[in-house]
Amino acid sequence: MGFSRDYFSSDFLHNLLHKHNLMIFGLYGIIGFILLSIVIFCTLFVYEHFFWTNKIKDVRKKHVVVTGGSSGIGKCMAILAAKKGANVTIIARNVENLEKAKHEILQACENKDTQRVEYLSLDIGDYETVEKALADLENDMGPIYMLVNCAGLAIAGKIEDTTPKSLDIMMRTNFLGTYYCIKAVTPRMKASKEGVIVLVSSQGGLLGIFGYTAYCSTKFALRGLAESLAMELQPYNISVTLCLPPDTDTPGYAIEELSKPIETKAISQMANLVQPEVVAEKAFKDALARNFFSALGLEGFIMTTLCAGMSPVKSYRQLFVQVLLMGPLRFIGIVYLFIFQRIIAQCKQYTNSENIKKVK
Ligand SMILES: NC(=O)c1ccc[n+]([C@@H]2O[C@H](COP(=O)([O-])OP(=O)(O)OC[C@H]3O[C@@H](n4cnc5c(N)ncnc54)[C@H](OP(=O)(O)O)[C@@H]3O)[C@@H](O)[C@H]2O)c1
Repeated sequence: MGFSRDYFSSDFLHNLLHKHNLMIFGLYGIIGFILLSIVIFCTLFVYEHFFWTNKIKDVRKKHVVVTGGSSGIGKCMAILAAKKGANVTIIARNVENLEKAKHEILQACENKDTQRVEYLSLDIGDYETVEKALADLENDMGPIYMLVNCAGLAIAGKIEDTTPKSLDIMMRTNFLGTYYCIKAVTPRMKASKEGVIVLVSSQGGLLGIFGYTAYCSTKFALRGLAESLAMELQPYNISVTLCLPPDTDTPGYAIEELSKPIETKAISQMANLVQPEVVAEKAFKDALARNFFSALGLEGFIMTTLCAGMSPVKSYRQLFVQVLLMGPLRFIGIVYLFIFQRIIAQCKQYTNSENIKKVK
């Protein structure tokens, strides 16, 4: 099939050129927008890097308390605090594990002769006990400068398999326990006009996941607590950091694996298992730099940018990136949700076929 000259001289050519011009115009627009964004980002970067004084906090000779400090992420946070010259108290229930962890933390101290490492056997789920224990602790070890709320657990299961007891344990430890410890120490932190509070939530504190109706609820609650606290405590020079670990290779994670439905396991396996030292290192750095969110890697960046909502913002650069990327990242989020839904459908098919086999 050939084209006649008449064909090219028709309105078709005019329309084509018009469309072409529009396309070129659009392309220049997009390139211009990207270049302008890069220029604004670089300008903000240079301004904030060289002319913005962001004082990094320091825990040397200060008292750092870590709940859940006898195991996993909490123990790594306590070790980091000891390495940075802090006096450290770890809180958990099991005395044997506390003793072992104390020994490890002592080995990590920057200066073993001057630093103190102590432990407190305490269930954080009862307010009266927590308030008294933390007041006594401060009398003995000095005012708490940094409180890391790491005690927590996950019991997975579909909503119909989640017992009221496991919901109660998670709510009491993950949310109420964190609230109680913070409530007990903030009046003295406010009086001294300094402090750092870390709340260890989870990626499941920003995203609801199959099998985590109870766990995610407790971890979402921590976000509300952290945002309100950040607003209340900002005038007192007390920073609040919400740590959002991905799946992390800890004793707690090994126990959690036992209760996971296959759907939850399949979704979890999409991401790598991270080491607790890596999570702790990032959380510690973010807390001392007064960052509100502490998350790891590209996944963490996507989630905290997408879910920034009304969270406190650290810098103009961060705000600019959030404003620019929130919309496009919504598409990426939807792709993830679509993949999760497919995994869930496949697992349902698999369990149905296994059930049929069993009946036969
Ligand atoms: N590991 C992960 O994949 C992952 C992912 C996201 C978020 N997180 C969160 O990160 C935090 C630490 O997790 P992990 O995996 O490191 O946990 P872990 O190894 O199981 O350690 C939990 C710590 O909390 C203490 N604890 C538990 N209940 C307590 C209570 N009622 N009162 C006082 N202490 C209590 C435990 O000691 P005792 O049992 O002796 O009291 C232990 O020291 C948790 O909040 C968890 O939800 C973990």
